[in-house]
Amino acid sequence: MKNLTRLVYISRSTSVRSENFKGIEPTVGRILLKSRINNRNNGLTGVLYFGDGCFFQCIEGEEEAVLSLLRKIKNDSRHSDITVRSRKLIKERSFGSWEMKFVAIEESMKELLESRGYKR
Ligand SMILES: Cc1cc2nc3c(=O)[nH]c(=O)nc-3n(C[C@H](O)[C@H](O)[C@H](O)COP(=O)(O)O)c2cc1C
Repeated sequence: MKNLTRLVYISRSTSVRSENFKGIEPTVGRILLKSRINNRNNGLTGVLYFGDGCFFQCIEGEEEAVLSLLRKIKNDSRHSDITVRSRKLIKERSFGSWEMKFVAIEESMKELLESRGYKR
């Protein structure tokens, strides 16, 4: 594949959530469902983290496909403050077998963040 690219961005969810919500939020569930179908068709792979009302997503694939998805994602009102943190050409994928792996921020992750002095 030419111009294999990995892009990472962070953003804030715009949906209201209760502090004690456990499990996958319906909004995130819908995003994942659609993403997995689209990404398979477009040769894209990656991972989506969601926690504390924020998204962190890594998308891998042919450069044009990655940038075209980024344009759609930037216009999506389900999140805001989209900031691209990294975009680079890569030799191989890290999430080759995932149309979009999902990881919720769990207790162990919170403990790690707290041990480093971060609240979230
Ligand atoms: C945090 C977040 C992550 C998303 N990730 C993807 C993704 O990996 N693939 C995808 O096709 N759409 C993703 N979307 C949805 C797109 O913004 C857009 O709604 C969708 O691609 C439109 O698909 P369609 O052109 O087939 O209607 C994401 C949306 C959000 C808010």
